[in-house]
Amino acid sequence: MLRQTVPISLWCRMLYLTAMTRSFLDMSTIPAASKNPTAPLATPPSASDLRPEATSAPPSGIVDVVNHGRTKPGLIPLWVGEGDLSTPAFITDAATRSLADGETFYTYQRGIPELREALARYDERVYGAPTSTERFFVTGSGMQAVQLAVRMIAGVGDEVLIPTPAWPNFGAAIGVNGATAVGVPMDFGNNGVTLDLDRLAAAVTPRTRALAINSPANPTGWTASREELAGILALARKHGLWIIADEIYGRFVYDGAVRAPSFKDVMDANDRILFVQTMSKNWAMTGWRIGWLEAPAQFGQVIENLIQYSTSGSPVFVQRAAIAALDHGDSFVSHQIDRARQGRDIVVNGLRATGKVSAPAPAGAFYYFFKVDGTTDSRAFAIRLVDEANVGLAPGAAFGGGGGEGLRLCYARRHDDLHEAIARLQRVIAAI
Ligand SMILES: Cc1ncc(COP(=O)(O)O)c(C=O)c1O
Repeated sequence: MLRQTVPISLWCRMLYLTAMTRSFLDMSTIPAASKNPTAPLATPPSASDLRPEATSAPPSGIVDVVNHGRTKPGLIPLWVGEGDLSTPAFITDAATRSLADGETFYTYQRGIPELREALARYDERVYGAPTSTERFFVTGSGMQAVQLAVRMIAGVGDEVLIPTPAWPNFGAAIGVNGATAVGVPMDFGNNGVTLDLDRLAAAVTPRTRALAINSPANPTGWTASREELAGILALARKHGLWIIADEIYGRFVYDGAVRAPSFKDVMDANDRILFVQTMSKNWAMTGWRIGWLEAPAQFGQVIENLIQYSTSGSPVFVQRAAIAALDHGDSFVSHQIDRARQGRDIVVNGLRATGKVSAPAPAGAFYYFFKVDGTTDSRAFAIRLVDEANVGLAPGAAFGGGGGEGLRLCYARRHDDLHEAIARLQRVIAAI
């Protein structure tokens, strides 16, 4: 019966496919060496078979310490850069609704129009000036925005200057793209961390393509004044450099302002600035992997292509969650900042009370970067604090520059944990 209804040509094709499938299955059950007895045996692939840009990407110095203490019962983890609040329900509900509505398909590379409009609305509310929707490009994280920004402007033979200590992913992203990250050490003094503009200017060479400026900064909390930003912009204009402006902690300032000073306050329409942003921190969405790049609208097609050939876009349900966060998240953001301000005070006062810590309270972000007198090796000290205090801190050495003796503590956490962590740290520090 079946025979009569299937044309001869189709029968031939089916027989051929059956034979091919059998021979594939048969081959997969015989030892590798005899699959092709006439070819020389292959040696196992090693790092030398890979691109140097890939193999030279460094392992994270923070993860190194995290791995040491990850499974310790009762450890208070203040080592990674995220708060302990989970994403609020009004955000997760938007994602759930989107999934229930069947929004499970491919989508716009630049981001769904509704999210790009929400970003423009948010931007106008926070920065006080209307911006074109066409400047906003949705990315799979702040990290992907960094990656895209670097890819757009720096490659083999190019240098990018970074004030250090700095979030290590900048340097690594620059290296993965074949360019060279050049650290410009910041100064640690009684007034906290400062950037020497002359030192930054002196580091510019004919190879320099860009300045990567993160303010408020991870790990130090350094927050550039409007005048400093104007000075950096003048330097960039003088040499025709790009600025990668990572302002993801811009809302975490503790002087009562709505936000930190921004390059938006001093730039004009022709400046070469790429803004890196993320949903991760303000709205407690680190696990969602969504951020955005703000760039001159005329590069829309270039950015669309780079997204097409990497992630091909961000999930629509995650984008719906981001719209809810941007449009309805102001009171949650204020709550987080208030909580972090109190957390900062608990931590700074508690550590300074030991008499062996003198770093002033940071102006922005949610990290305290401090050195304990009598210690020099931050990795060894961070390991000791895991073992003896059961508190996890990030070693300053992971951030480069002059921070090698310091430690980074994330204070965006519940206050009883912070009080307990400080009591434990005080006991170990007293013994130094
Ligand atoms: C300075 C800085 N920029 C960008 C990011 C990227 O954040 P995400 O990839 O979670 O969006 C981080 C994360 O810690 C950061 O500290």
